[in-house]
Amino acid sequence: MFDSGVGGLTVLHELLVSLPSEDYLYLGDTARLPYGNKTPEQLRGYATEIADHLVEAGSKLVVIACNSASAVALDAVQRNLVQRGLEVDVIGVLRPAAQLAVAGSRSGRIGLLATPATVASGAYERTMLAADPHVHLESVACRDLASTIEAGFPFDERLVDIVREYCSPLRAADVDTVILGCTHFPLIAPMLQRMLGRGVTLVTSGAGVARSVERALASSGLLNPRAGEGSYRFRCTGEVEPFRALGTRFLQMPLGDVRRVELGTRIAA
Ligand code: DGL
Repeated sequence: MFDSGVGGLTVLHELLVSLPSEDYLYLGDTARLPYGNKTPEQLRGYATEIADHLVEAGSKLVVIACNSASAVALDAVQRNLVQRGLEVDVIGVLRPAAQLAVAGSRSGRIGLLATPATVASGAYERTMLAADPHVHLESVACRDLASTIEAGFPFDERLVDIVREYCSPLRAADVDTVILGCTHFPLIAPMLQRMLGRGVTLVTSGAGVARSVERALASSGLLNPRAGEGSYRFRCTGEVEPFRALGTRFLQMPLGDVRRVELGTRIAA
């Protein structure tokens, strides 16, 4: 699985809990972060390249643990693998969160906090309206939030101010459900819940993604039959130590094996 940085660890955590017997390889594309202000073409290039890298490293399924990339690159990544004769399922994070929000909202007034790339794609709106044409989606493009979270601790007053500003249109729109449409945002869920109020349900994609992964692996007979725990390994495209330090803190488990990899050559070529 991959994300632009440590945000996707919120999804990895769900998978480690739901499917503990599997082996995981997580790539954080920290050299090219943030993804949220990139064009769809750039994101398709990055995502295709990383999926190739993960499959070449032996992955039997790819999770795009990033909303921005899932929103614009899911089909391109799957198509590219099929063209190369590789039967590997690709699962994104967008549909599970959208479906959960539509099913759970009573008022049908749903908020979305996501990166500018995700909001501009209109992918959440399309998925939700396909599930129920009567829901109303209030989207807020959070320009610098993922990078600020990725910059790490301490979370200071500046972050609180940024988060308060992004929550204010959602409060005004009287939503009862808010999709955390960026994998970095569950890392500040307590702050968001305080600003949005207890009555608002925060929706994240992790648990739904884990169920999709389980179904996909089961249907192709690829679930790992071992009884014990599998392994997890990490790769990043930027510096190893900051990734390890922040990742350990967010995953609340030692990251262990982290390797730096060079990507971008195929895109440049
Ligand atoms: N965490 C990613 C997402 O879910 C992207 C954050 C970023 O790199 O801008 O959209």
